[in-house]
Amino acid sequence: MAKVKTGFFCQNCGYESAKWLGKCPSCNEWNTFAEEVVTREDNNNKNDWRQDNGRQKTVKAKALHEVESSREIRVSAGDQELNRVLGDGIVPGSLVLIGGEPGIGKSTLMLQVGLGMKSLRVLYVSGEESEQQIKMRADRIGHSSQNFFVLTETNTKNIFLAIDSVLPQLVIIDSIQTLYSPVMDSAAGSVGQVRQCAGEMMKFAKETGIPVFLIGHITKDGMLAGPKVLEHMVDTVLQFEGDRHLAYRILRTTKNRFGSTSEIGIYEMLGTGLREVSNPSEILISQKEGQLSGVTIGATIEGNRPLLIEIQSLVSPASYGTPQRTPTGYDQKRLNMLLAVLEKRCGFRMGTQDVFLNMAGGIKVEDPAIDLAVCISIISSMQEIPVSDKICFAAEIGLGGELRTVNKVDQRISEAEKLGFEEIYVSKFSTKSLDLKKTRIRVKAFAKLTDVFEDLF
Ligand code: TYD
Ligand code: MG
Repeated sequence: MAKVKTGFFCQNCGYESAKWLGKCPSCNEWNTFAEEVVTREDNNNKNDWRQDNGRQKTVKAKALHEVESSREIRVSAGDQELNRVLGDGIVPGSLVLIGGEPGIGKSTLMLQVGLGMKSLRVLYVSGEESEQQIKMRADRIGHSSQNFFVLTETNTKNIFLAIDSVLPQLVIIDSIQTLYSPVMDSAAGSVGQVRQCAGEMMKFAKETGIPVFLIGHITKDGMLAGPKVLEHMVDTVLQFEGDRHLAYRILRTTKNRFGSTSEIGIYEMLGTGLREVSNPSEILISQKEGQLSGVTIGATIEGNRPLLIEIQSLVSPASYGTPQRTPTGYDQKRLNMLLAVLEKRCGFRMGTQDVFLNMAGGIKVEDPAIDLAVCISIISSMQEIPVSDKICFAAEIGLGGELRTVNKVDQRISEAEKLGFEEIYVSKFSTKSLDLKKTRIRVKAFAKLTDVFEDLF
């Protein structure tokens, strides 16, 4: 094995030290030192640009118009939701990082995808589970493939040896934090190791054109464990999220060199693995008997997909001095803002009421178009007047209590129509550019929140 020299570098300012330090003497940050490879004996500074000075260069920059453009050939992941978030399939030689909290289903997803790609040779490297455990899980999912190989290994050198013998067309690493590269002394999972191993995987993917999926853990504060540079290195970062106690999972792109970052994939966790949910609106609207007050439907867009989501509120007189405001799946500050608008612009006494707000299915909604549905739901609960389940809403609320227009109104309207809604409430300014002659659903346009209340209650 080639001998290497390693040093410790501050991940914040780049200060170099021969040993690990708790506090950086240069930028005074704590706990920022990580081991990194400085030089390798085998290529002793060969790539030091200074040594080439004065010599004839063989490196030449190309004019962009001379570069032949080849159409990327993508490989289908055999899973429509994953294909969608990757931007229409897997790009050869790409390095994809899948992050998520423990137990959310990352290993299940990758195992299922790997087993589903029956025509490709897939190598699944696990540093977390034994071969038997993987087999048990595969049996549970009920998939099998002749071309699926498993390896329990954490040493990158052995992984590359296995790759040489299996000759896979796709490599899955579960997880990057369990890998260690023998060129470094530090423990697996340390910043230096994560970076080194990811670097080795990237080099492998780029040189061979074989795509590599890395599973990554998420720390308590929701960051991918490991250096930020890991996210810079890889081509695509996917986040797998959802409430562990609920069945629905969302796969979100946060970075993608080969496609849009606004796409999401939705899955349902069943006893037999993950099921792709191709029509999410149907599951996000719960089936209920009779009509309840405080329940409304908002027409949102996640990525490029319209989604109809059920919102529930419960408003009840506060028993303590400070009323509680508890949103689930919705931003606390946004809820406070809407309550202030309801109080100040619409004359409702919210200051003495506890407000609980819940997005169905454990989904997190950030689309401001849900504002109107949230306000209607709160007032419906407060006044105990149910809203018809044939009505949905799509408008942002401004600080003046005005209805503001939202993007892609036409898509929201057509999704609502498709799902059998009879009326949709939107901002007056949304309808100007719309051709509403052909729509069967009644589009009701208003300028102010108070006008909507008058119309509804
Ligand atoms: P897992 O893929 O091990 O999560 P991660 O790799 O992200 O840590 O998923 C574990 C959870 O998924 C576990 O709590 C059990 C559940 N599960 C099912 O509900 N159905 C299944 O078919 C499988 C395989 C797992
Ligand atoms: Mg796992």
